[in-house]
Amino acid sequence: MTIIVTGGAGFIGGNFVHYMLNQYPEDRIVCVDKLTYAGNMSTLAPVMDNPNFRFCKTDICDRAGIYAIFEEEKPDVVINFAAESHVDRSIENPEIFLQTNILGTQVLMDACRKYGIKRYHQVSTDEVYGDLPLDRPDLFFTEETPIHTSSPYSSSKAGADLLVLAYHRTYGLPVTVSRCSNNYGPYHFPEKLIPLMIANALNDKPLPVYGEGLNVRDWLYVEDHCKAIDLIVRRGKVGEVYNVGGHNEKRNIDIVKIILKELGKPESLITYVADRKGHDMRYAIDPTKIHRELGWLPETKFDDGIKKTIKWYLENREWWENIISGEYQNYYEKMYGDRK
Ligand code: NAD
Ligand code: TYD
Repeated sequence: MTIIVTGGAGFIGGNFVHYMLNQYPEDRIVCVDKLTYAGNMSTLAPVMDNPNFRFCKTDICDRAGIYAIFEEEKPDVVINFAAESHVDRSIENPEIFLQTNILGTQVLMDACRKYGIKRYHQVSTDEVYGDLPLDRPDLFFTEETPIHTSSPYSSSKAGADLLVLAYHRTYGLPVTVSRCSNNYGPYHFPEKLIPLMIANALNDKPLPVYGEGLNVRDWLYVEDHCKAIDLIVRRGKVGEVYNVGGHNEKRNIDIVKIILKELGKPESLITYVADRKGHDMRYAIDPTKIHRELGWLPETKFDDGIKKTIKWYLENREWWENIISGEYQNYYEKMYGDRK
């Protein structure tokens, strides 16, 4: 089987490439990635010599480039991880989010229609459901929860989801969609909460907590997400959406304190900064459908996953130090420089 994985030089796509090459050494994985600021060839360095792996530096919006890859590779499956993925960046500059996340998705699906495909899978997010109030712990996102987005990022992901489902209904394209909660684990770009806090703590820099740190996210170890996607692609029902999450809700401030404790750093590093605009309060997934239909359950408990993740950042300093010593410094200064 030949599988195109877009966005494979990023966090989840990179973990997925490693997972698939280990799990199914006979399958061919073709990674298509534009290598934006979030893409890292060092994430893929361990697999570059694998004869069943090919890397194409291509923008998913580049129709001719994408069609040429389909022509050559005749993929059986396409799994689309490629996206602009950071909410804070989407607040600064929404346009690239609409381009990559919506129009890029359209190009991929057009290629699937033109060349034929067994399955197109869209990697989406629970953020398309908007947020839940803090005082209603009984509420969860199900696949029937209405789309109700807050940020340009989540709106662009929701737009893509609707388009993917429309290509199924209109053209009969065999699609599936997964909507997962927040991931954490190795190769996570240090602009996101968990790796940013680990990197700052290790450098004895302030840990910028938005607002009062009371917002809740539902954390899932990245390998559990990879396993869920693999299952959906192989056994999920065409035209269906599957929520992915492990009932692991935590407040941001508690995550930050866990990281400080693990690293033996003082809580005095915590700095409360201005809140994110339109900040979603709580995300919480109801994963009943994927459990019932496909037997999926998360395998890594948060206590173990966060320890593994911190260990990875300690053992792979070069990976993230290379990132934070480059263009990231300008980003950090712009986003956090005078954020009071
Ligand atoms: P990421 O930002 O770490 O990686 C994105 C990758 O896509 C990068 O390698 C980047 O170079 C590539 N890319 C961006 N624009 C491209 C383009 N136009 N053409 C080709 N490649 C392009 O993102 P991530 O956290 O790994 O997220 C992957 C997917 O999973 C996204 O679709 C995201 O919406 C979704 N998701 C993420 C989370 C999470 O917690 N990180 C949770 C649920 C869903
Ligand atoms: P993030 O990792 O950006 O993921 P998302 O916005 O997609 O959930 O942020 C997770 C939570 O952490 C979110 O509530 C915002 C908060 N946060 C901070 O408090 N400080 C930070 O520096 C960052 C990046 C995020």
